[in-house]
Amino acid sequence: MRQTQPALSCQDVTMRFGGLVALDSFSLEVHPGDVVGLLGPNGSGKTTFFNVVTGLYKPAAGTIRFGGTDLFGKPPAEINRAGIARSFQRCRLLLELSVFDNLLIGAHNRLNNGLLHNLFARKAAQHSITSFIGAARDLCARFNPYIADHLFDPAGAFNMIDRRRIELCRALLGEPRLLLLDEPSAGMTHEETFSLMDDVTSFQRQNPDLSIILIEHEMQVIERVSQRCVVLNFGKKICEGSYREVIADPQVLEAYLGEDA
Ligand SMILES: Nc1ncnc2c1ncn2[C@@H]1O[C@H](COP(=O)(O)OP(=O)(O)OP(=O)(O)O)[C@@H](O)[C@H]1O
Ligand SMILES: [Mg+2]
Repeated sequence: MRQTQPALSCQDVTMRFGGLVALDSFSLEVHPGDVVGLLGPNGSGKTTFFNVVTGLYKPAAGTIRFGGTDLFGKPPAEINRAGIARSFQRCRLLLELSVFDNLLIGAHNRLNNGLLHNLFARKAAQHSITSFIGAARDLCARFNPYIADHLFDPAGAFNMIDRRRIELCRALLGEPRLLLLDEPSAGMTHEETFSLMDDVTSFQRQNPDLSIILIEHEMQVIERVSQRCVVLNFGKKICEGSYREVIADPQVLEAYLGEDA
């Protein structure tokens, strides 16, 4: 029996695009500190689930609760304030802007005190920016000290793994309680992917209440980091269990390899 309340509880979530059912009564519970691998063939609904949880898409039905709060249909900014952050399948950094500017965009919720405050409470605004620079530098240093030392270089000057690290820092700066990672390995080598995931794992060990849902096609990455796996096919959950259990499941084999499996 689990002692903790689930951090995220989704029940019977359904998302349709016209006649296409991208999520079909999908349910998932994630407890504080869980690292859950979300698997499934291309087009099975994984990213759609993240888009629903973060409020980009409004589902047709279901319930979504986070830390006991109802998040169904809430706007993305409110969901982010509630403690859910994400990375995207494709790199979403503005490459011509500095690392710091990119981090600042992610901190909109934290730093946006309104125009009047910023115009008239200059000292307070200055203080919050200065402390944000310190927090950004500290966090980046945990992933790669080189990034922390080059906070004002353009993001485009960094290699792919550092760009992914910057994206992670952007998500983590808001101190989320749930982190959604959509294919962090995209565009990277095996070694880079393992190195990035080791960074994530060690960050999570230092923040043991942080829950993570990881979408990843590289099965070795899933095996290495996740304690539990959930497999989607055509928007439906077809299997849930340990990595070993799901890779041996006939329905999962069929979803990936066809009927011949
Ligand atoms: N905005 C949208 N409008 C219409 N259809 C969409 C939209 N977003 C997703 N879909 C469809 O929903 C289904 C699930 O897509 P989704 O992107 O969630 O898959 P995925 O599991 O993330 O796939 P991949 O592994 O390729 O990233 C697909 O059939 C896709 O074409
Ligand atoms: Mg996807």
